[in-house]
Amino acid sequence: MNKREILDQKMKEAQMGGGQKRIDAQHAKNKLTARERLDLLLDKNSFEEIGALVKHRSTDFGMDKLHYPGDGVVTGYGTINGRLIYVFSQDFTVFGGSLSETHAEKICKIMDMALQNGAPVIGLNDSGGARIQEGVVSLGGYADIFYRNTRASGVIPQLSLIMGPCAGGAVYSPAITDFILMVEDTSYMFVTGPNVVKTVTNEEVSSEDLGGASVHSEKSGVAHLTAANDLEAIEDIKKLLSYIPQNCEEDVPSLPYTINQEIREELATIVPENPNLPYDIRDVVFGIIDHDTFYEIHKNFAPNIVVGFARLAGRSIGIVANQPAYLAGVLDVQSSQKAARFVRFCDSFNIPLLVLEDVPGFLPGTDQEWNAIITNGAKLLYAFCEATVPRITVITRKAYGGAYDVMNSKHIGADMNFAWPSAEIAVMGAKGAAEIIFKNEIKSAKNPEQALINKEKEYADIFANPYRAAERGFIDDVIQPEQTRVKLIKAFAMLENKVNTLPKKKHGNIPL
Ligand code: HXC
Repeated sequence: MNKREILDQKMKEAQMGGGQKRIDAQHAKNKLTARERLDLLLDKNSFEEIGALVKHRSTDFGMDKLHYPGDGVVTGYGTINGRLIYVFSQDFTVFGGSLSETHAEKICKIMDMALQNGAPVIGLNDSGGARIQEGVVSLGGYADIFYRNTRASGVIPQLSLIMGPCAGGAVYSPAITDFILMVEDTSYMFVTGPNVVKTVTNEEVSSEDLGGASVHSEKSGVAHLTAANDLEAIEDIKKLLSYIPQNCEEDVPSLPYTINQEIREELATIVPENPNLPYDIRDVVFGIIDHDTFYEIHKNFAPNIVVGFARLAGRSIGIVANQPAYLAGVLDVQSSQKAARFVRFCDSFNIPLLVLEDVPGFLPGTDQEWNAIITNGAKLLYAFCEATVPRITVITRKAYGGAYDVMNSKHIGADMNFAWPSAEIAVMGAKGAAEIIFKNEIKSAKNPEQALINKEKEYADIFANPYRAAERGFIDDVIQPEQTRVKLIKAFAMLENKVNTLPKKKHGNIPL
């Protein structure tokens, strides 16, 4: 063979991964191959591969006779909708996509380039974990990746798609990245698999029940997004990318937008007359944002708070909204964690924050206290206090107790605070308040029941409105619901060049 033919031959081998039989096996499991996934993810003809000819260096267990160019991972760069990204795609057809020393080096190489050149990294994970034949060098390879994930955190977006097994310490690289999307039925994540679980705890559990997509999107919150198959997963991740800038120094993506009739009448009838009735806060979100632009994150986890990206007059914003339709929108351990993480992501990447507030307070009870609602609630408080991006709050109804402070109040640095006329801003609900502060009066009244009703009304008349807060300047304006969109467009435009720096420090100590 001449030199040109040798190269052609090697590239052909690299394209074939572990061979046709293993490719067929991958398809039989309803999974695409590493290269098929890249074809769908990246703009046509934009992918440039790096390291296609890399080979592993292990010699034990007959490995010196087994070589597949690329060593189980396809790495490189390309574009998605014209924007540069770096990517690795693990090839399950080669040693189960397991991570060898050289496989790790390839991933580290593109991570270093992404960091230096200020572009996102997307990881398509499909791997049996550490290459068992290699021992400690493969463990070291994982640690090299974890180190880079952490150094790059907050500098460039890092997105993980889990498209097959992800077990052992391997889960910690995705866990450090910004978003995890899992494919239903074909992916799972756990630190120790069902066999080890059985040995140690005698518990029998399937891979799916231990660490499948539904477990992690509903129970643990490890997965931010799920998709029905590889194709949907790839489309979803492209959409997510469209809301976020390339790096921490870039402005948020902005689409051209012509202002039309910005009054949204439908907002006027969403909050029920009876303050104890639920409504779906997403209807308020839809009423405010550009049509069809809401991209919800963590939809099935802690549904008492809703978080996600949207566009307002073409510009990306992050939304954090209490959800009165679930547990009356209380703040609890999980919803605080969910919102805190989202706020920190948005703040890292210059994405302005809109908070929609209807919160009766923190959830009481032993379960919450024993699971550290103090520390977890403080995470959300800290995340808002620390955020320097433009921050606007709209109180649609209840803003009670400590939750009033936490949910992006003026006192903790919000730039603009609006309230609808239906807002109630108080230490607690009128009934609870009356029972405490008028306890003796009610007890000694001829008709205690009627006395409670009277006192409840007295308290509500004074505090169940936004005007006391507006008199103090804690609320900048009380606005009609239908005006909300236009008020927000103007306020975010006014805040576009906001500069606010934190005191000089190495880093803060968020209550983790
Ligand atoms: C080397 C591996 C491998 C691994 C799979 N293979 N995992 N080779 N190292 N870790 C190989 C298999 O030998 C097989 O090769 C091919 O990949 C496909 O694997 P199958 O078992 O046939 O596929 P499947 O039935 O789909 O099962 C996939 C699997 C299973 C669930 C991932 O292979 C498995 O349990 N693998 C081991 C997982 C594991 O314990 N990894 C270590 C985790 S600890 P052939 O030639 O037969 O096709 C860890 C520590 C990291 O990762 C620490 C970081 C801090």
